[in-house]
Amino acid sequence: MRTKPATVVAIYPGSFDPITNGHLDLIQRASTLFDKLIVAILRNDEKQALFSVEERTEMLQEVVRDFADVEVASFNGLLVDYAAERGASVILRGIRAVSDYEYELQMALMNRRLRPEIETVFLLAREAHSFISSRLVKEVIRLGGNIAGLVPASVEGRLRRRLLGEPREP
Ligand code: PNS
Repeated sequence: MRTKPATVVAIYPGSFDPITNGHLDLIQRASTLFDKLIVAILRNDEKQALFSVEERTEMLQEVVRDFADVEVASFNGLLVDYAAERGASVILRGIRAVSDYEYELQMALMNRRLRPEIETVFLLAREAHSFISSRLVKEVIRLGGNIAGLVPASVEGRLRRRLLGEPREP
């Protein structure tokens, strides 16, 4: 039988390219559930990212500054190996809609097969955030749409500069 660790560390992995208000809400809620939460950016991602891992780390750090016991990190290789290395017993993922379920189920079952001692825990996204994704936010801003309220203001500024070439505010 497994016993509860004295300190429950959870890892919230993802691309975070960039962080959205959906991610942020999940981080805020999860930070009250676990003793420590590590938000971990995947480094060796096959997807072409808009922001470098360093930029994404900075953006995350800016917005989680006020949350207790939340660390921003990045990892290479298998998520479960990184979780074990960091002493995490939980992998945290968010589910927005049924369409997320199949992909999440596959990952959770594979991760369980690789390291059964690590549990995947799912939190449901808030209804108001259930349509937000980093991919759509980038598409909307690129095409001139309004993304206010979908990402933190600091992230919106960075998106505007990167995708629309807007200058930095004085
Ligand atoms: O935000 P994303 O892109 O949906 O996050 C996907 C992520 C980073 C959680 C997933 O790609 C991952 O865990 N990659 C690390 C490599 C790994 O462990 N692969 C096997 C997962 S079953």
